[in-house]
Amino acid sequence: MRVLVVGNGGREHALAWKFLQSPQVQQVVCVPGNGGTASLKNCRNLALSVDDFEGIARYALVNNIGMIVVGPELPLSLGITDFLKAQDLKVFGPTQEGAQIESSKAWAKDLMREAAIPTARAEVFTDADSAIVYIRAQGAPIVIKADGLAAGKGVTVATSLEQAENAVTACFSGQFGKAGSQVVIEECLQGQEVSILAVTDGLTIRPLLPAQDHKRIGENDTGENTGGMGAYAPAPIATPEIMQRIQTEILEPAIRALRDRNIDYRGVLYAGLMITPEGDPKVIEFNCRFGDPETQAILPLLETPLEKLLYACTQRKLADFPEIEWKSGAATCVVIASEGYPGNHPKGLAVSGIAAAEETGAAVFHAGTQMKNNQIVTDGGRVFSVTAIGETFDQSIENAYRGVERIQFEGMYYRRDIAYRVKGK
Ligand code: AMP
Ligand code: GLY
Repeated sequence: MRVLVVGNGGREHALAWKFLQSPQVQQVVCVPGNGGTASLKNCRNLALSVDDFEGIARYALVNNIGMIVVGPELPLSLGITDFLKAQDLKVFGPTQEGAQIESSKAWAKDLMREAAIPTARAEVFTDADSAIVYIRAQGAPIVIKADGLAAGKGVTVATSLEQAENAVTACFSGQFGKAGSQVVIEECLQGQEVSILAVTDGLTIRPLLPAQDHKRIGENDTGENTGGMGAYAPAPIATPEIMQRIQTEILEPAIRALRDRNIDYRGVLYAGLMITPEGDPKVIEFNCRFGDPETQAILPLLETPLEKLLYACTQRKLADFPEIEWKSGAATCVVIASEGYPGNHPKGLAVSGIAAAEETGAAVFHAGTQMKNNQIVTDGGRVFSVTAIGETFDQSIENAYRGVERIQFEGMYYRRDIAYRVKGK
């Protein structure tokens, strides 16, 4: 099979890398891909943008692409799946209607209410005045969310009323464009977060290994929010008992509620959860795609051929698919970022040491790089995600950092405490 992967991050590099481990996959084409996918054997980049649906369809039809896997939320929310399916292509990723579970937080809240899925109490507002009255009645801490896609910047966990009111004013001031025309205000949940990426064919849903990520830029989970500075799997907080509850209280009701709305959802349903101090799983948000960098921590542990699993989802055959198999042990993924990230950062800096990092046994997934004149250069805020596996978390952490330390470029930054919560496990 030939697989086309849409996207250009570390997640897409990890997907391409995993597909190519299967003897059934002859080639992977990445649109547009990055320096890492350009260097991968049997993988090539295609210089189209992720919203050039016509170009992607034409390429896929002419080149006998067996399956298209969509990484980022943006093309999904713009209807890439609807467009490609109308041309009889096989797509792993939900339709535009299904992608609303991520692209509209108000829509997702409504679905959760309908399906009685445990989540933070919330209200939706379309004007600042009534939102502020509500905030004053509720008190802080409180969480303010722009309704639509805001590139990870639309959420404020406010610890004071002033901060909450400023966040509401910012949303309605047009800072997030249309994404901020509705604001969701919700109860602040306490506990530990866990990411459950589940694959579904719209009827059956099966979770991958639970993962945890580190969203803050600084050590001890401090400082600004980022796209994710590292991740690890399998997260021990999600015990088999909690996983069972997640399946019956969250994943299955979500799929049923989507079906009740006549939504044919085939792809990843990613549940971002809080495990409360009482041990109850509650939904913080749903995403309509693989998580980044969780995917880079999860896929290296997968034994089941990825293309078979995802293809079964596109064919509505997940119920008949054998149990998903995993390697024993643990995986840790450390993100290397550019100086200044998540703020302004330079691009185009030469990178060395990638081959030496790979020689340690770590997988070096490129997140923001480009190949220029046979030299890998930086091309984004998050530049690499380096993953290693080990029999224990401690081993996987040590192996991942051994890889990270081989890589060099000017101003590179990484957290030295990734997976601190699972040290000794
Ligand atoms: P989201 O974009 O919805 O994932 O939110 C980004 C981050 O904000 C989450 O990963 C949480 O750390 C935090 N967050 C969002 N909603 C809540 C909530 N209701 N209670 C506590 N923290 C939250
Ligand atoms: N790691 C968070 C996300 O993919 O949204």
